[in-house]
Amino acid sequence: MPSTAASSAASTNRRFGKLHGVMTDEQLIALARAAALKAYAPYSRFHVGCAIESIDGEVVTGANMENACYRLGICAEQSALTAAQHSFGLHKVARIAVAGGDASGRELAGDQAVTPCGGCRQAILEAAQLSGRDVEILCASGDGSRMSRVTIAELIPHGFGPKNLPDAG
Ligand code: THU
Repeated sequence: MPSTAASSAASTNRRFGKLHGVMTDEQLIALARAAALKAYAPYSRFHVGCAIESIDGEVVTGANMENACYRLGICAEQSALTAAQHSFGLHKVARIAVAGGDASGRELAGDQAVTPCGGCRQAILEAAQLSGRDVEILCASGDGSRMSRVTIAELIPHGFGPKNLPDAG
C-alpha cells in the first residue's frame, strides 16, 4: 500500500492512542520535530515540521516542501492542514505543534521557537472559524528546548475568514 498522510496518521494513532488529551505537549512537539526530518527543504535548509491533533485525539503530521521554482514551496502547517482535512476534517482541528531548524544531524536542532508565517496563520484561522473554537499552537525550537504557547486568535487578531463572507452576493 502506498504511504499516504492518512496511513501515516493511522500509524501515529496506533502508537499514541485516540483519546482526546492523551497527547502531551512534549509528545505533540516530538511528532512535529520528527516530521521536520522528512521535510524537502534543499534550498532554505530550514526544516519545519507540524503535528495537528483533532478534538478526538487523532494526529496528523506534515513538513515543508520546497521547489526549484522557489515561490511554489509549501509550509509545514499547510501540508499538515491538508492531511488533517483528509483524515478528520478541518473543523476538528484542536491543537497544533510547529518546530523548525537544522536537520543535518540525526535529530532536529536549533534553539529558536518557530511561529507560523502569515500565510499559515490565515490557513489555521480558516480551521478555527469553521469550528468556532480557538486553536492552540505550540511554537517549538528545533531542539525542543523552547516552546511558547499561543492561540490563533492571538497570532492573527481582527483576521478575515469564512465568518466574514456572509454578505457576499
Ligand atoms: N516555513 C514553514 O514551513 N512554516 C512556517 O511557518 C515558516 C516557514 C518554511 C518555508 C520554507 O520552506 C522554509 O521554512 C524557510 O522559510
